Amino acid sequence: MMRIGVLISGSGTNLQALIDSIESGDIPGEIAVVISNRRTAYGLERARMHGIPAKSILRKDYNSDHAFNIAILETLRRYDVELVVLAGYLSILSPDVVKAYPNRIINIHPSLIPAFCGKGYYGERVHRAVLDYGVKVTGATVHFVDEGTDTGPIILQQAVMVMDDDDVHSLAQRVLEVEHRLLCRAVKLFIEGKLTVQGRKVIIKE
Ligand code: GRF
Repeated sequence: MMRIGVLISGSGTNLQALIDSIESGDIPGEIAVVISNRRTAYGLERARMHGIPAKSILRKDYNSDHAFNIAILETLRRYDVELVVLAGYLSILSPDVVKAYPNRIINIHPSLIPAFCGKGYYGERVHRAVLDYGVKVTGATVHFVDEGTDTGPIILQQAVMVMDDDDVHSLAQRVLEVEHRLLCRAVKLFIEGKLTVQGRKVIIKE
């Protein structure tokens, strides 16, 4: 059974979607550990309620980004993690971690990359920028993590229409529902060995 490590920073609704999808038997994997960089992340509570080891690893407890990321890497290794999922994780992984899991780290981003992504584009700030720009279509993207920010090969995308009366919260809610579905589908495809990375492209063998 493939062992998944999930990194979170907040409410963990993407984590919850993975937990539900695993418990329903749809995803043939198991979450070996949940790691949060915020002690108060509700996602830690979600993990505990499902008997999943839940650890908070805080940057302030380390004297460098490098040491902080090594602590994360050591925890992933201790739990024999084979696939890392960033589910609302609001910190940048160091090259050490990315190199340890080449094309084995999956991230979910709440826009259609390469739009509204990169440094500073996370959470509701993404939807604020979408509404300010006046685009008609946004969406969600699941991609492999490389050493850039939101720049790795794209696995899945799905569009979400922007409505005239949308505000950040109504749009975020509709995109979040798509994120949950897309993330679960990407993890399932990965575990079933149906994803092949060819340069920047991810080929899906359905
Ligand atoms: C949300 O903004 C979501 O779009 C992004 O991370 C944030 C929190 O997600 N992926 P979650 O509820 O903690 O999974």
